[in-house]
Amino acid sequence: MLIWCLLALAGTSYALPQGAPEKVCDSMLPVHSGILPQGSASPYSITPRRFQGAIMVTLTSLLDTPFEGFMLQGRTPDGRPLGAFENVGEFAHTINCAQAGDTATHNSPNPKNVLEFKWLPPRNYEGPVIFNGTIAQDYSTFWVGVESGQVNVRRSLVDDPAPSLPSSPFSSTPPTFERPNYHEAAMDFDPFYTGCTSTKLCFGSPDGCVRTKSCQAAVAISVAGDKVDFELKATQNAAWVGVGLSDDEKMGDDSVIECAKNGNQLGAYLSWTEGKPNYGATRLKNQLGIRLMNQSIIDDTIYCRVRRDVMTAVNGKVFDLGRNKYHLLIASGSRVSPQGVGYHELSFLASGSKQALADVSEVKAASKSLIRLHGAFMLAAWIGAVSVGTLLARYFRQTWVGSSICGKDVWFAWHRMLMLVTCALTVAGFVLIWVELKGWSAEKNPHAILGTITTVLCILQPIGAFFRPHPGAAKRPLFNWLHWLGGNVAHILAIVTIFFAVRLGKAELPDFVDWILVGYVAFHVAIHLILSVAGCISERTADGRVSSFPMKDLSTGRNAAYMDRNVDAPYGGFRKAMLSIYVIVVGLITIALILITVLAPIKETWKAFWNKNS
Ligand code: HEM
Ligand SMILES: *[C@@H]1O[C@H](CO)[C@@H](O)[C@H](O)[C@H]1NC(C)=O
Ligand SMILES: *[C@@H]1O[C@H](CO)[C@@H](O)[C@H](O)[C@H]1NC(C)=O
Repeated sequence: MLIWCLLALAGTSYALPQGAPEKVCDSMLPVHSGILPQGSASPYSITPRRFQGAIMVTLTSLLDTPFEGFMLQGRTPDGRPLGAFENVGEFAHTINCAQAGDTATHNSPNPKNVLEFKWLPPRNYEGPVIFNGTIAQDYSTFWVGVESGQVNVRRSLVDDPAPSLPSSPFSSTPPTFERPNYHEAAMDFDPFYTGCTSTKLCFGSPDGCVRTKSCQAAVAISVAGDKVDFELKATQNAAWVGVGLSDDEKMGDDSVIECAKNGNQLGAYLSWTEGKPNYGATRLKNQLGIRLMNQSIIDDTIYCRVRRDVMTAVNGKVFDLGRNKYHLLIASGSRVSPQGVGYHELSFLASGSKQALADVSEVKAASKSLIRLHGAFMLAAWIGAVSVGTLLARYFRQTWVGSSICGKDVWFAWHRMLMLVTCALTVAGFVLIWVELKGWSAEKNPHAILGTITTVLCILQPIGAFFRPHPGAAKRPLFNWLHWLGGNVAHILAIVTIFFAVRLGKAELPDFVDWILVGYVAFHVAIHLILSVAGCISERTADGRVSSFPMKDLSTGRNAAYMDRNVDAPYGGFRKAMLSIYVIVVGLITIALILITVLAPIKETWKAFWNKNS
């Protein structure tokens, strides 16, 4: 009979078809009267995977031999049991070693191929966990100390990709199995961030990434006597990562330490930023006072440890890293040349204040409120106000006839108001971004040029409208046509500009904003189609004559018959209903986009919010 037995104390026999007893908590040894564990590599594996705030641990048979018994614990690297298993299912139960439910073991010796368990870390625990297990093929064949890769537990656990295992837990079908990538799991506990805010000064991009240990580019600085160590790291397949020591928040006249690819290796260099218009950094002829201590390129991540003298003179400027304070600029990019590095298109962040390098407290990034406000103003103007203003001017001239606001037709009063709001917001947004950038945009993105054209058109529209010829004047049709063209070109350009804003690094917008914008465009076009068709139908029911009306040459038949009369065109109720729907939907889209822009980067903000509240 194949039964996995454990003997814990001499003379006491545990016939253990029902699992391991608490006596073997530490050793995890099934003491089968002198039978030793297998010395070979285990044909079973333990694979942890982060999932919805917990860790799913999978016991798998790598070669189709099922296992009968097991005992499994989550542990700290120094071997103390940690956390607890939850709802282990019909094939297992938990026992209590150091704390309740921290050890899972089998219920019966029935053969099993795959088991999956949910494991929860102790409340507020942050740090590494390793799953350690004993797995028995049968009574006399078992493996002790089968370890999983190390997983780092964070308060905000990000899900790992689902493994290529059968997804239903407790299945007994032989799985198709790929060897787990231990290397990757082990890398996850990232020593780069160990000591941040206690022994070293850390700063990374995007803002707040040091806390979540998820920087795209980061520097960790420790001052030791007359040397300063800079650890630099960047993900996203960056070719270089650099830190600039600056007197302001901007690039230009800064001393840079680069960690840059040089063939299959990394090198450390001192370089100098020239600022506009030469973005990037140029290497110094004199590379004294800097030494590469260590480097690695693993997957998409580059890492350097660079040692720099406390005192260096660069381009006639003395950099005393022990005494002076600097703004830190962290940047990464993908273009390197023998003369230096290119633009930091992968990531860039500047510290908001000057920092003594020996001061290891948390570094705050420079405020981005001007950029956020620029985005919010433009969205309110071009997604919100303009859309409604255009709709009113096109389909509502023969609605609310008879009532007026300040002596003007209702549609006209609203149209003019919304368009003036648009222009005011656009000009304000334009000024804000110029104040922020203090010059022309450096990003290789058509956003700046398209945005400028949009702004100019937006200023011309009301000026043109102010000098418009009287209704009936010979030049009036020309004005009408130009005004219509200018307005529509500006609106279309603005939407295209906003699509390009999603690609701007500094905007930090998630890619799904594209889909919200596509949704907006589709809805906008749909409502225009519906109202146009409704206009044609109401036109056909009309019988009157056509006379002169301010914009009749534009209304191509639409309700022209009603323009002379003091009555609404037919289907006024329908038009008003469509308008209400339009205003509500476009309003919600505008609010959503503004929130995403103002709270950018929205995913990090969201995570931070949940961490604070859990
Ligand atoms: C139709 C709407 C928009 C217009 C007309 C517009 C206009 C402009 C212009 C003219 C510039 C260049 C300023 C300069 O070079 O000094 C600019 C830059 C910028 N815009 Fe917009 N913008 C619009 C929408 C947005 C939105 C929705 C965002 C989202 C946050 C945004 C984010 C930015 C950023 C981050 C920059 C700076 C790019 C850089 O660093 O080079 N813009 N915009
Ligand atoms: C796992 O168990 C084996 C055998 O008991 C032990 O040698 C090893 O140190 C354990 N590892 C951890 C992380 O507890
Ligand atoms: C360089 O890094 C490797 C791997 O991270 C480490 O084992 C080694 O001790 C480091 N060397 C120095 C001089 O720090």
